[in-house]
This record gives sequence, structure tokens and C-alpha cells, in this order.
Amino acid sequence: MIKTDKPLEEMSKRQVVNHLYDTVKPEEGVIPAYLLGDPKVYEIEHEKVFLKTWVFVGHESEVPNKGDFMTRELAGYSLIITRDGEGEIRAFYNMCTHRGMKLCRADKGNKSMFTCPYHGFNFKNTGELVGVPLQKDIYGGTLDRTTMGLHKVKLESYKGLLFGTWNEDAEPLEDFLGDIRWYLDILVGRAEMEVIGVPQRFVVSSNWKVGSDNFVGDSYHTMVTHGSIAKLGMVPSATYSKRGFQIHTENGHGLNLGTPNPDFAFPEELKAEFKSNLSVEQYGVLSNLKNMIGNVFPNLSFLISHTKIKDQFISNTSVRMWRPIGHNKMEVIAWMLVEKNASQDWKDRSRDSFILTFSPSGIFEQDDTEVFTDITEAAQGPMPFLKNLTYNYTMGLHREPVEFVGPGVAYDDKFTEASQRNFYKYWLELMTK
Ligand SMILES: [Fe+2]
Repeated sequence: MIKTDKPLEEMSKRQVVNHLYDTVKPEEGVIPAYLLGDPKVYEIEHEKVFLKTWVFVGHESEVPNKGDFMTRELAGYSLIITRDGEGEIRAFYNMCTHRGMKLCRADKGNKSMFTCPYHGFNFKNTGELVGVPLQKDIYGGTLDRTTMGLHKVKLESYKGLLFGTWNEDAEPLEDFLGDIRWYLDILVGRAEMEVIGVPQRFVVSSNWKVGSDNFVGDSYHTMVTHGSIAKLGMVPSATYSKRGFQIHTENGHGLNLGTPNPDFAFPEELKAEFKSNLSVEQYGVLSNLKNMIGNVFPNLSFLISHTKIKDQFISNTSVRMWRPIGHNKMEVIAWMLVEKNASQDWKDRSRDSFILTFSPSGIFEQDDTEVFTDITEAAQGPMPFLKNLTYNYTMGLHREPVEFVGPGVAYDDKFTEASQRNFYKYWLELMTK
């Protein structure tokens, strides 16, 4: 329970930040409910988290050919991501430099030139302004096109995962990811990976942090929220989700590794490719992996899970973004990834495995989003009592970390809230900077 004398809506931004400092206590396991329901907190988040950190925007395999492009959103602003004639991937602010019209309104396609729908200014997929209708006639020699190229946006890739940032002073992506890279290697660096189809997109009435929180550390809910899967016999027992490790690294990243798994759930014929891309220790984790569920701060969650299809354990790999579109609404964008060199049959079954579990039609997804929506609903509005409510994140505070083959702080089963505390610790650090 926390006490405030002033309602949050009457506080200035500065006062809200001070209030966060006083009331959010991740290391003690105290997280106030207003973090999930307050519009002012959301506004400050946009400025101090989403405009400052690296945010996921897509996968390289979504623009495989020269001239391919896609439009994406980075912290509320539209981007055009292009692969130019040399094969280089670039990102631009999707705004014509003449009068500010959105230059490209398609989700994806292939072209080397973008024409503004307002006055027809023409930009190459490398960003240069190359054509202005009637230029000589109406500007004489006065228009300098070289100063009117598209605004470049910082874009970096890690093992095919593309991240952008609006922060010119952001640390290199690899430094921001830090030790979580060891696990991302297993997720998307184990083989050449490709996105299957276009990403799934659906809107959920939930604060984005509920999704990140759930994936970064909440294995505990599986036995109840997803209890039906145990009843259906799809998993051995209701507490199966406890076995394994929960690990967190710096900058709020974290994950849960379900182990052991007696069945190799990846394409057998790609074992040599996996071994050549991974260290012995990483391959050891992969070959023993039941599932892997985590979150790259702030809102890129990732997942490897598997299901039995036609008597074979088939893994599915995905990344998903909880894209905030308000304090109580987010768009979930989910990319399904598969080993590019796997057989078509494997790819099809892996997609089936994904659709059965995590997608708008998937068993897990539907269970989760019901919970996310209710949590968010209960955290908002003017009820006076609400501002004093806190959640309990104390699970595992009494426990000591264990040795693990990979980096980070590891606990030897997954029922702890250490990763969520680590997520909120970094969140608070950014919010109060
Ligand atoms: Fe879940």
C-alpha cells in the first residue's frame, strides 16, 4: 500500500517522475498498479523509454531482395525500411521533405523509387531526392535537392533482428543487448532463419508492460491460465513449467529456459548447421530445450515452444512486439521464424505448431490476452483507492542465483519473479533519468 496526497492527474510530469521514484520498488518486489493504467505514465514512457532505447522493427528476411521495402513504426512514427541496389538495409522517416506528407503508404513491396502522393517528389530507396516535377520551370536553379534527402533513422541488426532508435546518442545495439545475445544466438542465430508470411497483427486492450512482464518472467501462470493444456494431455503435468532456469541480464532483458527435453524438437538434418553457428554450451542448451520464453527490453518478446504433431515434437520460433498505442491498448505483432534450410514439410508443421499455440487462434494466446485485458482494466480510472494499490513481486527474493553455462543471473527453476524485478528496475532507471 502506498499513500499519495495528490491525484496523479493533477501532478506535473516532474511530480509524476518523483512519485515513481518514491513508489516503484522493484528490488523489494513492490510495483504500483497505476503503472499499467495511468495516461501520464504512458506519456513519460514514450519520451523516456521508447524514444531513447533500441526498439525492434523487423527481420532482415522480410526484405530479402534488392528493392524490397516495408513500412514499420518506431515509437509512434512511421519508417520506410529499404534494401537498396547494393543490398544494404536502411531506414528513413516516412515523410516527404517537401511538405511532410507520408511518402509511402503501403505495408511492403519492391521499388527503387518512392513518389510522394502530394506533389510527386521522387526519392531513391537510398534516400536521395532525385526528381521534382517541373523543377527547372518553377524553381529556376534555386532548389538544392542534395539538402532534401529523406531523414535517416539509426538502424542496426543483430543476427537478422533489426532494431531502430530515435536516440542519436544511443549506445551500439550490441552493447544494449549485452549478455542476452548469448540466448538470442540460440533463438535466431542457430541457423539461417526466415520469417514465414507477413507478421500477424492484432489489437488487445492491454498496457504493453503486461505482455513484456508475462514473457520476461511469468512461468508461474502457465499451470493455471493454461491449465487446460495439461488436462488435454498436451503436457505431462500442471507443474511442468517450473522445471528449468530463469535468467536475467543487464538493461532489463530476461528469459526462461524450460529444460530438460528428451526429444530433439528441431530439424535433425540441420544439426551440423546448428553446431557451426553455436558454441558447444549453446548447442547443449538447444539440444535439451523444451521451451524458451523471454523479453528484450522494452517490448520485444521471444519464444521457442513445441508441440507434438504427427508423433513428432516440432518446435516453433517467434518474436512478438507489444507495440503500445495508448496507456490501455497495444498492437501485438508476431513474426514466425523458421530455419531457412529446413524441409518444406518441417516448415509447414512448425507453422501449424505455432498457429495451434501462439497466434490469435492459438490456445495460449487466447488465454493470455484475456488476463492482460482484465489486469489493465482493473488498473485504470479515477477510483481514489486505486492509486494506493500495489502488486506483489516478491517471489524468489529469498533465493540465491546458481551457476549456469550461459551469462546472466540464473535461478534453477522458473518460478521466481527475479526477471520482472530486473525489467522494472531498468524501466524505473530510464523513467527517472
Ligand atoms: Fe501465458
